[in-house]
Amino acid sequence: LHDLNYCTSVIKHKKEDVNHPNAKPNFIIILADDIGWGDLDANQPEEKANNTPYLNLMAEQGLRLTDFHSPASTCSPSRAALLTGRYGLRNGVTHNFAVGSEAGLPLSEVTFPQLLQKAGYYTAMIGKWHLGHNGPYSPTNRGFDYYLGIPYSNDMGCTDTPGYDLPHCLPCVTYGSARAGCYSKVGLPLIENRSIVEQPLDLWTLTEQYQSAATRMIRNARYDTSVKTNRQPYLLYLALAHMHVPLAPPPPQDATITDVYSASLREMDNLVGAVKSAADETDNTLIWFTGDNGPWELKCQYAGSVGPFKGKWQTSRGGGSAKRTTWEGGHRVPTVAYWPGRIPANTTSSALLSGLDIFPTLLSLARVTPPSDRRVDGIDASNILLHGEEAGHEFLFHPNSGAAGRFGDLQTVRAGKHKAFYITGAAEACGGASGRQQLHDPPLIFDLEHDEAEETPLQVQTPEYQAAALRIARRREELLWDIATDESVSTADYSTDDSAAPCCDPGHAVCRCSTLG
Ligand SMILES: *[C@@H]1O[C@H](CO)[C@@H](O)[C@H](O)[C@H]1NC(C)=O
Ligand SMILES: *[C@@H]1O[C@H](CO)[C@@H](O)[C@H](O)[C@H]1NC(C)=O
Repeated sequence: LHDLNYCTSVIKHKKEDVNHPNAKPNFIIILADDIGWGDLDANQPEEKANNTPYLNLMAEQGLRLTDFHSPASTCSPSRAALLTGRYGLRNGVTHNFAVGSEAGLPLSEVTFPQLLQKAGYYTAMIGKWHLGHNGPYSPTNRGFDYYLGIPYSNDMGCTDTPGYDLPHCLPCVTYGSARAGCYSKVGLPLIENRSIVEQPLDLWTLTEQYQSAATRMIRNARYDTSVKTNRQPYLLYLALAHMHVPLAPPPPQDATITDVYSASLREMDNLVGAVKSAADETDNTLIWFTGDNGPWELKCQYAGSVGPFKGKWQTSRGGGSAKRTTWEGGHRVPTVAYWPGRIPANTTSSALLSGLDIFPTLLSLARVTPPSDRRVDGIDASNILLHGEEAGHEFLFHPNSGAAGRFGDLQTVRAGKHKAFYITGAAEACGGASGRQQLHDPPLIFDLEHDEAEETPLQVQTPEYQAAALRIARRREELLWDIATDESVSTADYSTDDSAAPCCDPGHAVCRCSTLG
Protein backbone atom coordinates (compact mmCIF):
# COMPACT_ATOMS: atom_id res chain seq x y z
CA LEU A 1 0.00 0.00 0.00
CA HIS A 2 2.82 2.34 0.90
CA ASP A 3 4.56 1.67 -2.39
CA LEU A 4 1.37 2.42 -4.25
CA ASN A 5 1.10 5.79 -2.52
CA TYR A 6 4.67 6.53 -3.40
CA CYS A 7 3.95 5.74 -7.03
CA THR A 8 0.98 8.07 -7.28
CA SER A 9 2.94 10.79 -5.63
CA VAL A 10 5.79 10.32 -8.09
CA ILE A 11 3.44 10.77 -11.00
CA LYS A 12 1.73 13.72 -9.38
CA HIS A 13 5.05 15.41 -8.65
CA LYS A 14 6.28 14.87 -12.18
CA LYS A 15 3.17 16.60 -13.45
CA GLU A 16 3.57 19.46 -11.01
CA ASP A 17 7.16 19.97 -12.06
CA VAL A 18 6.13 20.22 -15.68
CA ASN A 19 3.31 22.59 -14.84
CA HIS A 20 5.60 24.73 -12.74
CA PRO A 21 8.70 25.41 -14.77
CA ASN A 22 9.63 27.87 -12.03
CA ALA A 23 9.77 25.13 -9.38
CA LYS A 24 12.79 25.76 -7.17
CA PRO A 25 15.76 23.48 -7.90
CA ASN A 26 17.25 20.99 -5.45
CA PHE A 27 20.87 21.52 -4.44
CA ILE A 28 23.51 19.02 -3.40
CA ILE A 29 26.84 20.53 -2.37
CA ILE A 30 29.53 17.89 -1.91
CA LEU A 31 32.64 19.18 -0.16
CA ALA A 32 35.65 16.87 -0.06
CA ASP A 33 38.32 17.42 2.59
CA ASP A 34 42.02 17.96 1.78
CA ILE A 35 41.52 16.81 -1.82
CA GLY A 36 44.05 17.76 -4.49
CA TRP A 37 43.31 19.27 -7.90
CA GLY A 38 45.15 16.33 -9.43
CA ASP A 39 43.02 13.76 -7.60
CA LEU A 40 40.23 14.13 -10.14
CA ASP A 41 41.20 11.87 -13.08
CA ALA A 42 39.40 14.17 -15.52
CA ASN A 43 41.74 17.03 -14.60
CA GLN A 44 44.77 15.05 -15.80
CA PRO A 45 43.68 12.45 -18.36
CA GLU A 46 47.31 12.00 -19.44
CA GLU A 47 48.04 10.37 -16.07
CA LYS A 48 45.62 7.57 -16.99
CA ALA A 49 44.54 7.06 -13.37
CA ASN A 50 41.23 5.37 -12.73
CA ASN A 51 40.36 6.52 -9.22
CA THR A 52 37.32 8.73 -9.85
CA PRO A 53 35.09 7.10 -12.52
CA TYR A 54 31.83 8.56 -11.14
CA LEU A 55 33.21 12.07 -10.86
CA ASN A 56 34.61 11.72 -14.38
CA LEU A 57 31.14 10.73 -15.55
CA MET A 58 29.64 13.73 -13.75
CA ALA A 59 32.15 15.93 -15.57
CA GLU A 60 31.27 14.28 -18.87
CA GLN A 61 27.59 14.92 -18.22
CA GLY A 62 28.21 18.35 -16.74
CA LEU A 63 30.78 21.11 -16.31
CA ARG A 64 34.34 20.84 -15.02
CA LEU A 65 35.62 24.07 -13.47
CA THR A 66 39.40 24.13 -13.80
CA ASP A 67 40.18 27.46 -12.09
CA PHE A 68 37.98 27.08 -9.02
CA HIS A 69 39.41 27.89 -5.59
CA SER A 70 38.53 27.07 -2.02
CA PRO A 71 37.97 30.33 -0.12
CA ALA A 72 40.83 29.51 2.28
CA SER A 73 43.58 26.89 2.56
CA THR A 74 42.43 25.42 5.83
CA CYS A 75 39.26 23.90 7.13
CA SER A 76 37.11 26.18 9.32
CA PRO A 77 37.80 29.42 7.39
CA SER A 78 37.07 27.69 4.09
CA ARG A 79 33.75 26.31 5.34
CA ALA A 80 32.72 29.56 7.02
CA ALA A 81 33.38 31.46 3.78
CA LEU A 82 31.49 28.88 1.74
CA LEU A 83 28.41 29.13 3.96
CA THR A 84 28.44 32.94 4.27
CA GLY A 85 29.93 34.01 0.91
CA ARG A 86 32.32 36.28 2.83
CA TYR A 87 36.07 36.41 3.48
CA GLY A 88 37.17 35.48 6.98
CA LEU A 89 38.07 39.11 7.68
CA ARG A 90 34.32 39.77 7.46
CA ASN A 91 32.78 36.60 8.91
CA GLY A 92 35.34 36.38 11.74
CA VAL A 93 36.52 32.81 11.05
CA THR A 94 40.23 33.05 10.18
CA HIS A 95 41.58 29.81 11.68
CA ASN A 96 40.40 26.43 12.86
CA PHE A 97 38.16 25.71 15.82
CA ALA A 98 39.34 23.18 18.42
CA VAL A 99 37.78 20.21 20.20
CA GLY A 100 37.35 22.45 23.23
CA SER A 101 36.04 25.51 21.35
CA GLU A 102 33.18 27.12 23.22
CA ALA A 103 31.85 29.05 20.25
CA GLY A 104 32.01 28.92 16.44
CA LEU A 105 30.91 30.80 13.34
CA PRO A 106 29.64 34.10 14.86
CA LEU A 107 25.87 34.12 15.34
CA SER A 108 25.70 37.48 13.58
CA GLU A 109 26.60 35.67 10.34
CA VAL A 110 23.89 34.44 7.98
CA THR A 111 24.36 31.13 6.12
CA PHE A 112 22.79 30.27 2.77
CA PRO A 113 21.12 27.16 4.28
CA GLN A 114 19.34 29.52 6.71
CA LEU A 115 18.08 31.61 3.81
CA LEU A 116 17.02 28.58 1.77
CA GLN A 117 15.30 27.09 4.81
CA LYS A 118 13.35 30.32 5.23
CA ALA A 119 12.43 30.16 1.55
CA GLY A 120 10.80 26.75 2.05
CA TYR A 121 13.68 24.34 1.47
CA TYR A 122 14.19 21.17 3.45
CA THR A 123 17.84 21.45 4.47
CA ALA A 124 20.07 18.61 5.55
CA MET A 125 23.73 18.43 6.36
CA ILE A 126 25.77 15.25 6.48
CA GLY A 127 29.43 15.28 7.41
CA LYS A 128 32.08 17.47 8.95
CA TRP A 129 30.93 20.80 10.35
CA HIS A 130 33.95 22.39 12.13
CA LEU A 131 32.21 25.70 12.79
CA GLY A 132 31.48 25.25 16.49
CA HIS A 133 29.66 22.37 18.11
CA ASN A 134 28.04 23.86 21.20
CA GLY A 135 24.40 24.91 21.55
CA PRO A 136 23.56 27.74 19.17
CA TYR A 137 26.65 27.06 17.01
CA SER A 138 25.64 23.56 15.93
CA PRO A 139 24.34 22.84 12.40
CA THR A 140 20.69 22.48 13.39
CA ASN A 141 20.85 26.07 14.69
CA ARG A 142 22.60 27.43 11.60
CA GLY A 143 20.07 26.54 8.95
CA PHE A 144 19.82 22.76 8.83
CA ASP A 145 16.67 20.76 9.56
CA TYR A 146 18.69 17.58 9.84
CA TYR A 147 22.30 16.84 10.73
CA LEU A 148 24.42 13.70 10.85
CA GLY A 149 28.17 13.94 11.13
CA ILE A 150 31.33 14.76 13.01
CA PRO A 151 31.77 18.17 14.65
CA TYR A 152 35.36 18.65 13.42
CA SER A 153 38.10 16.71 11.61
CA ASN A 154 38.28 12.92 11.77
CA ASP A 155 41.73 13.08 13.39
CA MET A 156 40.48 15.22 16.29
CA GLY A 157 39.61 12.31 18.55
CA CYS A 158 40.58 8.71 19.08
CA THR A 159 38.77 5.67 17.72
CA ASP A 160 39.04 1.98 18.60
CA THR A 161 40.33 0.98 15.17
CA PRO A 162 42.27 3.95 13.81
CA GLY A 163 42.75 4.23 10.07
CA TYR A 164 45.87 5.18 8.14
CA ASP A 165 47.63 8.28 9.44
CA LEU A 166 51.16 9.54 10.00
CA PRO A 167 52.34 9.24 12.68
CA HIS A 168 50.16 6.22 13.38
CA CYS A 169 47.43 6.76 15.96
CA LEU A 170 46.77 4.34 18.78
CA PRO A 171 43.25 3.16 19.65
CA CYS A 172 41.19 4.77 22.41
CA VAL A 173 41.63 1.74 24.65
CA THR A 174 45.28 2.62 25.19
CA TYR A 175 44.38 6.11 26.37
CA GLY A 176 46.98 7.44 28.74
CA SER A 177 50.06 6.45 26.78
CA ALA A 178 51.92 9.06 24.77
CA ARG A 179 50.93 9.37 21.14
CA ALA A 180 52.50 12.14 19.18
CA GLY A 181 50.43 13.66 16.42
CA CYS A 182 47.09 12.17 17.35
CA TYR A 183 44.50 14.00 19.38
CA SER A 184 43.36 11.54 22.02
CA LYS A 185 41.64 13.19 24.96
CA VAL A 186 38.13 12.66 23.59
CA GLY A 187 36.73 9.90 21.42
CA LEU A 188 35.57 11.08 18.01
CA PRO A 189 31.80 11.62 18.31
CA LEU A 190 29.11 11.05 15.70
CA ILE A 191 26.26 13.51 16.14
CA GLU A 192 22.70 13.30 14.86
CA ASN A 193 20.79 16.57 15.13
CA ARG A 194 21.92 17.67 18.61
CA SER A 195 22.83 14.35 20.23
CA ILE A 196 25.91 12.17 20.28
CA VAL A 197 24.85 8.81 18.83
CA GLU A 198 28.26 7.11 18.79
CA GLN A 199 31.53 7.81 20.66
CA PRO A 200 34.09 6.83 19.71
CA LEU A 201 32.91 6.67 16.15
CA ASP A 202 33.96 3.71 14.02
CA LEU A 203 35.77 5.33 11.08
CA TRP A 204 35.47 2.15 9.04
CA THR A 205 31.66 2.38 8.86
CA LEU A 206 31.42 6.16 8.45
CA THR A 207 31.22 6.13 4.65
CA GLU A 208 28.36 3.66 4.75
CA GLN A 209 26.54 5.76 7.38
CA TYR A 210 26.94 8.92 5.31
CA GLN A 211 25.90 7.18 2.12
CA SER A 212 22.73 5.67 3.53
CA ALA A 213 21.74 8.90 5.26
CA ALA A 214 22.34 10.90 2.08
CA THR A 215 20.48 8.58 -0.27
CA ARG A 216 17.64 8.15 2.25
CA MET A 217 17.32 11.93 2.52
CA ILE A 218 17.23 12.38 -1.25
CA ARG A 219 14.69 9.59 -1.76
CA ASN A 220 12.46 10.79 1.08
CA ALA A 221 12.48 14.28 -0.33
CA ARG A 222 11.52 12.84 -3.66
CA TYR A 223 8.63 10.82 -2.34
CA ASP A 224 7.50 12.99 0.55
CA THR A 225 3.73 12.82 0.52
CA SER A 226 3.30 14.91 3.66
CA VAL A 227 3.95 18.12 1.76
CA LYS A 228 0.61 19.53 0.80
CA THR A 229 1.50 21.89 -2.01
CA ASN A 230 4.32 21.43 -4.48
CA ARG A 231 7.21 19.14 -3.81
CA GLN A 232 9.42 20.74 -1.17
CA PRO A 233 12.81 21.53 -2.68
CA TYR A 234 15.84 20.38 -0.73
CA LEU A 235 19.42 21.34 0.02
CA LEU A 236 21.89 18.64 0.98
CA TYR A 237 25.32 19.79 2.17
CA LEU A 238 27.50 16.70 2.20
CA ALA A 239 30.87 17.47 3.79
CA LEU A 240 32.85 14.27 3.35
CA ALA A 241 35.49 12.90 5.73
CA HIS A 242 37.47 11.95 2.60
CA MET A 243 40.37 12.66 1.82
CA HIS A 244 41.40 13.81 5.31
CA VAL A 245 43.51 11.41 7.39
CA PRO A 246 42.98 8.96 8.97
CA LEU A 247 41.94 7.13 5.81
CA ALA A 248 39.89 4.00 6.36
CA PRO A 249 39.21 2.46 2.95
CA PRO A 250 37.80 -1.01 2.36
CA PRO A 251 40.21 -3.54 0.86
CA PRO A 252 40.27 -2.69 -2.86
CA GLN A 253 38.19 -4.93 -5.15
CA ASP A 254 40.02 -3.62 -8.17
CA ALA A 255 43.54 -4.93 -8.70
CA THR A 256 44.61 -1.66 -10.31
CA ILE A 257 44.16 0.14 -6.96
CA THR A 258 47.34 -0.61 -5.09
CA ASP A 259 47.75 2.08 -2.46
CA VAL A 260 45.70 3.30 0.49
CA TYR A 261 45.15 6.80 -0.88
CA SER A 262 43.82 5.55 -4.21
CA ALA A 263 41.59 3.01 -2.47
CA SER A 264 40.21 5.80 -0.33
CA LEU A 265 39.71 8.05 -3.34
CA ARG A 266 37.80 5.26 -5.05
CA GLU A 267 35.67 4.82 -1.92
CA MET A 268 34.85 8.53 -1.96
CA ASP A 269 34.04 8.36 -5.65
CA ASN A 270 31.66 5.43 -5.05
CA LEU A 271 29.86 7.51 -2.45
CA VAL A 272 29.56 10.39 -4.92
CA GLY A 273 28.23 7.89 -7.49
CA ALA A 274 25.56 6.64 -5.07
CA VAL A 275 24.45 10.21 -4.35
CA LYS A 276 24.35 10.95 -8.07
CA SER A 277 22.17 7.89 -8.78
CA ALA A 278 19.74 8.85 -6.03
CA ALA A 279 19.64 12.43 -7.31
CA ASP A 280 19.12 11.25 -10.87
CA GLU A 281 15.74 9.98 -9.71
CA THR A 282 14.77 13.50 -8.65
CA ASP A 283 14.03 16.24 -11.15
CA ASN A 284 15.84 19.50 -11.25
CA THR A 285 18.83 18.78 -9.02
CA LEU A 286 22.17 20.59 -9.16
CA ILE A 287 25.15 18.68 -7.76
CA TRP A 288 28.23 20.80 -7.10
CA PHE A 289 31.35 18.92 -6.06
CA THR A 290 34.39 20.79 -4.74
CA GLY A 291 37.06 20.75 -2.01
CA ASP A 292 37.80 22.70 1.19
CA ASN A 293 41.56 23.12 0.57
CA GLY A 294 44.50 21.32 -1.03
CA PRO A 295 46.37 18.20 0.10
CA TRP A 296 48.00 17.90 3.50
CA GLU A 297 51.53 17.18 2.30
CA LEU A 298 52.83 16.48 5.80
CA LYS A 299 50.93 13.17 5.56
CA CYS A 300 53.23 11.86 2.80
CA GLN A 301 51.67 8.90 0.97
CA TYR A 302 48.30 9.70 2.58
CA ALA A 303 48.15 13.12 0.90
CA GLY A 304 46.60 13.90 -2.48
CA SER A 305 48.04 15.30 -5.69
CA VAL A 306 48.33 18.99 -6.55
CA GLY A 307 48.68 18.08 -10.22
CA PRO A 308 50.83 20.64 -12.07
CA PHE A 309 50.35 23.29 -9.34
CA LYS A 310 53.59 22.55 -7.57
CA GLY A 311 54.48 25.94 -6.08
CA LYS A 312 58.10 25.50 -7.13
CA TRP A 313 59.30 28.93 -6.01
CA GLN A 314 58.46 27.79 -2.48
CA THR A 315 59.43 24.13 -2.63
CA SER A 316 62.88 24.99 -4.01
CA ARG A 317 63.38 27.02 -0.81
CA GLY A 318 62.06 24.29 1.47
CA GLY A 319 58.70 23.19 2.75
CA GLY A 320 55.35 22.30 1.25
CA SER A 321 53.16 24.38 -1.04
CA ALA A 322 49.65 22.95 -0.60
CA LYS A 323 47.20 23.00 2.37
CA ARG A 324 47.75 26.02 4.69
CA THR A 325 49.60 27.96 1.97
CA THR A 326 48.38 30.42 -0.64
CA TRP A 327 50.27 28.64 -3.43
CA GLU A 328 47.91 27.16 -6.02
CA GLY A 329 48.19 23.70 -4.45
CA GLY A 330 46.63 25.13 -1.28
CA HIS A 331 43.38 26.30 -2.77
CA ARG A 332 42.88 25.25 -6.41
CA VAL A 333 40.43 22.40 -5.96
CA PRO A 334 38.81 19.85 -8.29
CA THR A 335 35.30 21.07 -9.06
CA VAL A 336 32.42 19.66 -11.08
CA ALA A 337 28.90 21.02 -11.50
CA TYR A 338 26.22 18.66 -12.78
CA TRP A 339 22.62 19.45 -13.57
CA PRO A 340 21.02 17.40 -16.34
CA GLY A 341 19.07 19.56 -18.77
CA ARG A 342 20.39 22.83 -17.34
CA ILE A 343 24.20 22.66 -17.34
CA PRO A 344 25.54 21.80 -20.82
CA ALA A 345 27.16 18.34 -20.83
CA ASN A 346 30.84 17.63 -21.33
CA THR A 347 31.98 21.22 -20.94
CA THR A 348 34.83 22.87 -19.06
CA SER A 349 35.27 26.41 -17.91
CA SER A 350 38.40 28.23 -16.84
CA ALA A 351 36.44 31.10 -15.28
CA LEU A 352 38.07 32.28 -12.05
CA LEU A 353 35.65 31.15 -9.33
CA SER A 354 35.63 30.40 -5.63
CA GLY A 355 33.68 28.52 -2.98
CA LEU A 356 32.60 32.03 -1.93
CA ASP A 357 30.36 32.00 -5.01
CA ILE A 358 28.18 29.12 -3.89
CA PHE A 359 26.23 31.43 -1.55
CA PRO A 360 25.13 34.03 -4.14
CA THR A 361 24.75 31.45 -6.93
CA LEU A 362 22.38 29.16 -5.04
CA LEU A 363 20.32 32.12 -3.83
CA SER A 364 20.08 33.36 -7.40
CA LEU A 365 19.05 29.96 -8.76
CA ALA A 366 16.43 29.63 -6.00
CA ARG A 367 15.30 33.24 -6.60
CA VAL A 368 15.93 34.18 -2.99
CA THR A 369 16.94 37.79 -2.37
CA PRO A 370 20.36 38.05 -0.68
CA PRO A 371 20.42 39.89 2.65
CA SER A 372 20.79 43.65 2.17
CA ASP A 373 22.47 44.31 5.52
CA ARG A 374 25.88 42.84 4.66
CA ARG A 375 28.56 42.81 1.98
CA VAL A 376 29.23 39.51 0.25
CA ASP A 377 32.50 38.66 -1.55
CA GLY A 378 31.20 35.84 -3.74
CA ILE A 379 29.70 36.41 -7.17
CA ASP A 380 26.62 34.92 -8.82
CA ALA A 381 28.11 32.27 -11.12
CA SER A 382 24.82 31.03 -12.56
CA ASN A 383 25.54 32.36 -16.06
CA ILE A 384 28.87 30.56 -16.02
CA LEU A 385 27.21 27.32 -14.95
CA LEU A 386 24.22 27.50 -17.27
CA HIS A 387 25.20 29.62 -20.24
CA GLY A 388 28.92 29.20 -20.75
CA GLU A 389 29.72 32.77 -19.75
CA GLU A 390 33.43 33.18 -19.01
CA ALA A 391 33.67 36.21 -16.72
CA GLY A 392 34.45 35.05 -13.20
CA HIS A 393 36.16 37.14 -10.52
CA GLU A 394 38.20 40.03 -11.81
CA PHE A 395 40.17 39.81 -8.55
CA LEU A 396 40.23 36.96 -6.06
CA PHE A 397 42.01 37.07 -2.70
CA HIS A 398 43.56 34.06 -1.00
CA PRO A 399 43.67 34.56 2.77
CA ASN A 400 46.66 33.55 4.87
CA SER A 401 45.89 30.13 6.30
CA GLY A 402 48.75 29.36 8.65
CA ALA A 403 51.88 29.11 6.51
CA ALA A 404 52.70 32.83 6.65
CA GLY A 405 51.45 36.11 8.08
CA ARG A 406 48.43 36.78 10.23
CA PHE A 407 45.50 34.36 9.81
CA GLY A 408 42.91 35.69 7.40
CA ASP A 409 44.94 38.61 6.05
CA LEU A 410 44.57 39.11 2.30
CA GLN A 411 48.15 39.20 1.02
CA THR A 412 47.87 36.96 -2.03
CA VAL A 413 45.83 38.27 -4.93
CA ARG A 414 44.76 36.80 -8.23
CA ALA A 415 43.93 39.10 -11.15
CA GLY A 416 43.41 37.40 -14.52
CA LYS A 417 46.47 35.31 -15.27
CA HIS A 418 48.55 37.16 -12.68
CA LYS A 419 48.99 36.24 -9.05
CA ALA A 420 50.73 38.50 -6.57
CA PHE A 421 52.26 37.54 -3.23
CA TYR A 422 52.95 40.21 -0.62
CA ILE A 423 54.02 37.44 1.72
CA THR A 424 55.12 33.84 1.13
CA GLY A 425 55.51 30.88 3.42
CA ALA A 426 55.57 27.10 3.38
CA ALA A 427 53.55 24.42 5.10
CA GLU A 428 55.29 21.37 6.54
CA ALA A 429 56.30 18.98 3.79
CA CYS A 430 56.45 15.19 4.11
CA GLY A 431 59.15 14.69 6.73
CA GLY A 432 58.25 17.89 8.55
CA ALA A 433 60.57 20.40 6.85
CA SER A 434 59.18 23.88 6.51
CA GLY A 435 60.36 27.13 4.91
CA ARG A 436 60.76 30.67 6.11
CA GLN A 437 58.07 33.31 5.92
CA GLN A 438 59.13 36.16 3.63
CA LEU A 439 57.63 39.60 3.00
CA HIS A 440 57.74 40.93 -0.55
CA ASP A 441 57.85 44.62 -1.35
CA PRO A 442 57.41 44.92 -4.28
CA PRO A 443 55.25 41.77 -4.45
CA LEU A 444 56.21 38.60 -6.32
CA ILE A 445 53.99 38.28 -9.38
CA PHE A 446 53.62 35.06 -11.35
CA ASP A 447 51.99 34.52 -14.74
CA LEU A 448 49.87 31.42 -14.15
CA GLU A 449 49.11 31.00 -17.84
CA HIS A 450 52.76 30.31 -18.63
CA ASP A 451 53.94 29.21 -15.20
CA GLU A 452 51.28 27.18 -13.44
CA ALA A 453 53.96 25.71 -11.16
CA GLU A 454 54.66 29.24 -9.81
CA GLU A 455 58.37 28.87 -10.38
CA THR A 456 59.72 32.14 -11.81
CA PRO A 457 58.21 35.51 -10.89
CA LEU A 458 57.99 38.28 -13.50
CA GLN A 459 60.86 40.76 -13.67
CA VAL A 460 59.93 43.87 -11.71
CA GLN A 461 61.17 46.22 -14.47
CA THR A 462 58.86 44.87 -17.17
CA PRO A 463 55.78 46.86 -18.24
CA GLU A 464 53.70 43.71 -17.67
CA TYR A 465 54.81 43.57 -14.04
CA GLN A 466 54.31 47.29 -13.50
CA ALA A 467 50.78 47.28 -14.90
CA ALA A 468 49.72 44.18 -12.95
CA ALA A 469 51.27 45.44 -9.72
CA LEU A 470 49.47 48.76 -9.97
CA ARG A 471 46.08 47.20 -10.72
CA ILE A 472 46.43 44.69 -7.91
CA ALA A 473 47.67 47.20 -5.35
CA ARG A 474 44.74 49.54 -6.11
CA ARG A 475 42.17 46.78 -5.84
CA ARG A 476 43.70 45.47 -2.65
CA GLU A 477 43.55 48.90 -1.04
CA GLU A 478 39.93 49.26 -2.13
CA LEU A 479 38.98 45.91 -0.64
CA LEU A 480 40.80 46.51 2.64
CA TRP A 481 39.07 49.89 2.92
CA ASP A 482 35.73 48.24 2.14
CA ILE A 483 36.29 45.73 4.92
CA ALA A 484 37.54 48.38 7.35
CA THR A 485 34.31 50.35 6.84
CA ASP A 486 32.01 47.31 6.82
CA GLU A 487 29.61 47.57 9.75
CA SER A 488 28.56 43.94 9.37
CA VAL A 489 32.02 42.52 10.22
CA SER A 490 31.82 39.75 12.83
CA THR A 491 34.35 38.62 15.41
CA ALA A 492 34.67 34.94 16.30
CA ASP A 493 35.18 33.83 19.87
CA TYR A 494 38.01 31.30 19.84
CA SER A 495 38.12 30.62 23.58
CA THR A 496 38.44 27.00 24.62
CA ASP A 497 37.63 24.97 27.68
CA ASP A 498 37.93 21.22 28.22
CA SER A 499 34.28 21.09 29.28
CA ALA A 500 33.26 22.37 25.84
CA ALA A 501 34.40 19.11 24.17
CA PRO A 502 31.49 16.96 22.97
CA CYS A 503 31.28 14.18 25.50
CA CYS A 504 28.91 11.23 25.78
CA ASP A 505 30.00 10.40 29.33
CA PRO A 506 32.21 13.04 31.00
CA GLY A 507 33.13 10.47 33.65
CA HIS A 508 34.87 8.31 31.05
CA ALA A 509 38.52 8.87 30.12
CA VAL A 510 37.75 9.31 26.40
CA CYS A 511 34.06 10.19 26.77
CA ARG A 512 32.99 6.73 25.61
CA CYS A 513 29.22 6.24 25.47
CA SER A 514 28.81 3.62 28.17
CA THR A 515 25.07 3.12 27.92
CA LEU A 516 24.97 2.99 24.14
CA GLY A 517 27.35 0.03 24.09
C1 LIG B 1 16.48 14.92 13.55
O1 LIG B 1 15.68 15.98 13.09
C2 LIG B 1 14.79 15.60 12.06
C3 LIG B 1 14.14 16.84 11.46
O2 LIG B 1 14.08 17.89 12.34
C4 LIG B 1 13.79 14.62 12.59
O3 LIG B 1 12.89 14.24 11.59
C5 LIG B 1 14.55 13.40 13.07
O4 LIG B 1 13.66 12.48 13.65
C6 LIG B 1 15.61 13.80 14.08
N1 LIG B 1 16.41 12.63 14.38
C7 LIG B 1 16.78 12.29 15.63
C8 LIG B 1 17.56 11.05 15.80
O5 LIG B 1 16.50 13.00 16.59
C1 LIG C 1 33.50 14.93 -24.38
O1 LIG C 1 34.43 15.80 -24.97
C2 LIG C 1 35.66 15.18 -25.30
C3 LIG C 1 36.63 16.26 -25.74
O2 LIG C 1 36.01 17.28 -26.43
C4 LIG C 1 35.41 14.11 -26.34
O3 LIG C 1 36.62 13.46 -26.68
C5 LIG C 1 34.43 13.10 -25.77
O4 LIG C 1 34.11 12.13 -26.74
C6 LIG C 1 33.18 13.78 -25.30
N1 LIG C 1 32.32 12.82 -24.60
C7 LIG C 1 31.03 12.69 -24.83
C8 LIG C 1 30.30 11.66 -24.05
O5 LIG C 1 30.46 13.38 -25.65
